[in-house]
Amino acid sequence: MEKFEIHGGRRLNGTIKISGAKNAAVAIIPAVILSDGICRIENLPDINDVVAIAQILKKMGASVKRIDKTTLEIDSKGIRNPVADYDLVRHMRASSYLMGALLGQFHRAEVALPGGCDFGVRPVDQHLKGFGILGAKHTVEGGMIKINADSLVGDHVYLDVVSVGATVNIMLAAVKAKGRTTIENAAKEPHIVDLANFLNSMGADVRGAGTDVIKINGVDFLRGTTYSIIPDQIEAGTYMAAAASAGGDVTLLNVIPKHLESITAKLREMGVSVEENDESVRVVCSDRLKRCNVKTMPHPGFPTDMQPQIAALLATANGTSIIHEAVWDNRFKYVEELRRMGAEINVDGKIAVVEGVDRLKGAPVKATDLRAGAAMIVAALGAEGVTYVEDITHIDRGYEHVVEKLTGVGADIKRIFTNDNVTNTA
Ligand code: EPZ
Repeated sequence: MEKFEIHGGRRLNGTIKISGAKNAAVAIIPAVILSDGICRIENLPDINDVVAIAQILKKMGASVKRIDKTTLEIDSKGIRNPVADYDLVRHMRASSYLMGALLGQFHRAEVALPGGCDFGVRPVDQHLKGFGILGAKHTVEGGMIKINADSLVGDHVYLDVVSVGATVNIMLAAVKAKGRTTIENAAKEPHIVDLANFLNSMGADVRGAGTDVIKINGVDFLRGTTYSIIPDQIEAGTYMAAAASAGGDVTLLNVIPKHLESITAKLREMGVSVEENDESVRVVCSDRLKRCNVKTMPHPGFPTDMQPQIAALLATANGTSIIHEAVWDNRFKYVEELRRMGAEINVDGKIAVVEGVDRLKGAPVKATDLRAGAAMIVAALGAEGVTYVEDITHIDRGYEHVVEKLTGVGADIKRIFTNDNVTNTA
């Protein structure tokens, strides 16, 4: 079994280069299905979710060439059968974007009901509502969602909840539909804007991305393109939290500070110094953090994907903090693991009350999902003693070269392989 072994208590100093955004990449790669040309996607993160979604396209018949570690060249004209591989799809939430892309290009799609992180129900009712309004019908048979449309005609979709996935999927189904589609109550995350910019670089007509009203005028043809993915807002936020946890002076390169505003504001409220430059942020922290309250909200609010990481910081802040997880039903599973390190956190539904303790102590913990795993690393870097993080495949899904990036700023973290009583170090 692979684990991270982390010896806490070392201050972090130096620079970390942030990679391309996972949640933009896993939306833009399926969107290539809509192209009638060849697409070159650059600044992709070197993570398992990107490998997985590219493999699904390849299995359907697309040509996928890896130009280098962060660049793929994809020609999807080889896709003849819009059916995504059941086993490959069911383990990855973002594969739900194949529904919108296949429907938009072929007016037909067969995709497994999505899997993904294990924190509460992850419905797709709003996705299917949007497809229905455009003229599609769906059934669920044998774990597969089967969607068909004689034709797709633009219309007005009002989302009942702000949903990143539904906004993405309806955009993908609408870009080649007849006429205009309006999505109201749309998600405004940076990766929604990135997807719109990618689609428009192919000749689509998508306006208003980044606001809660997106208007799409359908087109018949989408050319090939070359496109570079935006930097990852959540990866950057995670390393900002790591610097605050361990203490030190860390500069993150290749970021868009505007995408980090809510994270920066919260860290400053906790007493962390954050200096914003054109394409970098510098995080300096040496004192004990101050308590604060956090409520997760759709962008531009505080991102739910940073909630576990900020909880790991508040676990040793001076005072009592309240965390309100307002996006997901059950995103506090990681709290049990932080408790093993001495955290004093009580969870009641969507609210967690965090009593700051002086210091956490290293312990064997599990990554219960991608961002929970990131939170274990953040906690371990500031803890006393050694922490072993298990189930790190979750972390490898969404964080590129995490050991190299952290050792590059002085952290003591290594990937170890344990089988029975023998422990080998990578
Ligand atoms: C995306 O998930 C992200 N995943 C998640 O990041 C992120 O937590 C989430 O957006 C919120 O920002 C990707 O981009 C691949 P939603 P998604 O649809 O699209 C409810 C990570 O760590 N809802 O915005 O699945 C839903 O239950 C991952 O990178 C419906 O009710 O999230 C939730 O309460 C974890 N019906 C809320 O909306 C629907 O049809 C937001 O979900 C869809 C969603």
